[in-house]
Amino acid sequence: MEKYIINGGKKLSGEIKVAGAKNLALKVFPATILSQETCFLNNVPEIEDLQRMIETMEDLGAKIEKLKNGKYKVSTKDINKTELKPDLVKKLRASIMLAGPMLARFGEITLAHPGGCIIGQRPIDLFLEGFQKLGAKMTENGSSYTLKADKLIGAKIILPKISVTVTENLMMAATLAQGTTIIKNAAMEPEIPALAEYLNKHGAKITGAGTPELIIEGVKKLSAGEFDIIPDRIETGTFVMLGLMTQSELKITNCNPQHIETVLYSLEKTGAKLKIGKDYIITKPSNLKGVNITTHEYPGFPTDLQAPYTALMTQAEGMSLIHEPIFEARLFYTDILNQMGANIIMCDPHRVVINGPTQLHGRLVVSPDLRAGMTLVLAALSAKGTSSIENIYQINRGYENIVERLQNIGADIKQINE
Ligand code: EPZ
Repeated sequence: MEKYIINGGKKLSGEIKVAGAKNLALKVFPATILSQETCFLNNVPEIEDLQRMIETMEDLGAKIEKLKNGKYKVSTKDINKTELKPDLVKKLRASIMLAGPMLARFGEITLAHPGGCIIGQRPIDLFLEGFQKLGAKMTENGSSYTLKADKLIGAKIILPKISVTVTENLMMAATLAQGTTIIKNAAMEPEIPALAEYLNKHGAKITGAGTPELIIEGVKKLSAGEFDIIPDRIETGTFVMLGLMTQSELKITNCNPQHIETVLYSLEKTGAKLKIGKDYIITKPSNLKGVNITTHEYPGFPTDLQAPYTALMTQAEGMSLIHEPIFEARLFYTDILNQMGANIIMCDPHRVVINGPTQLHGRLVVSPDLRAGMTLVLAALSAKGTSSIENIYQINRGYENIVERLQNIGADIKQINE
């Protein structure tokens, strides 16, 4: 079994470069299906989730070639089937991102209920309702769904809940629909304007991306070309918290601090000393005090940074309340932090109270999901003694080459197979 061995308690130093955004790459690859022309994508992160997406697209008939330095060549003109491989869909919730583009281009898609993190139910009712609003007919066969539409027709879609991937999926499907689609209560995460920029660059007519109201005027076809994936804002925030948690002077480079302004605001309220540049952030050793947060859709505090922040608050003076209203099962990793010496009380599945600071101690832990798994790496690097982290696939799903990047800033971490 592959695991990380970490000797914690060391100060780190140097520079760590942020990779391309996982949660944009997992949408832009599917977006290439909307055109039969060849596409070149830059700054693509080398992560397991994207490899599963590539495998799923190649199984459909797409030709995807990895060039050098994070560049990929993608051609989807030879796609010849419309059923997503169930075992791949189970491994990757984001495989549902193929549904919108496949429906728009081929008028049909069959997919099993997607898997994903154990952070909550992860229903897909809003996807299915949205596609049906655009004219698709749905049939259920066991645990998989088939959606068919001779032609998608533009519609007014009101989303009862803000959903990132539902917004992105419907936006992509609507680019080739007949007529205009309006999506109200749309998500505004930075990956959405970035995805809209990719689509508009290749002939789509999307306005309002990054606001709660998207307007998409359907067009006959889209072209394809070159596109750069934006930096990963969740990696950026995670590395800032790593620097603070280990009392290190770290320079986080190749990032966009504007994408995590609410996070930086909360961190500065804790007393964190940060130097924020145009495309870098420098952390300095700081005496932190507990500050409450509530996760919220963008531009609020992102739920994907709740776990690293919670770990950081175990090292802050005093009490802090972490409120996670978006997912109903995204706080259970805190019992692992308690086993490492934290003092965290779970009030209900959406709230924990932390009393700090407490000295963390290394131990054997198992990564429960992607973001909690990386949080255990942060905790282990801050803890006294040695930690062994199992189920590291969950971490490699979203953090490119993380062992080497951490070793380059002085972390005592290695990956073993035993
Ligand atoms: C995206 O997931 C991200 N994943 C998640 O990141 C992120 O945590 C989440 O947005 C919130 O920011 C990708 O972009 C691939 P949602 P998504 O739909 O779109 C409910 C990570 O760590 N909902 O915005 O699946 C849902 O239950 C991952 O990188 C429905 O009710 O999240 C949740 O309560 C984890 N019905 C709420 O919406 C639906 O059909 C928000 O979820 C769909 C969603």
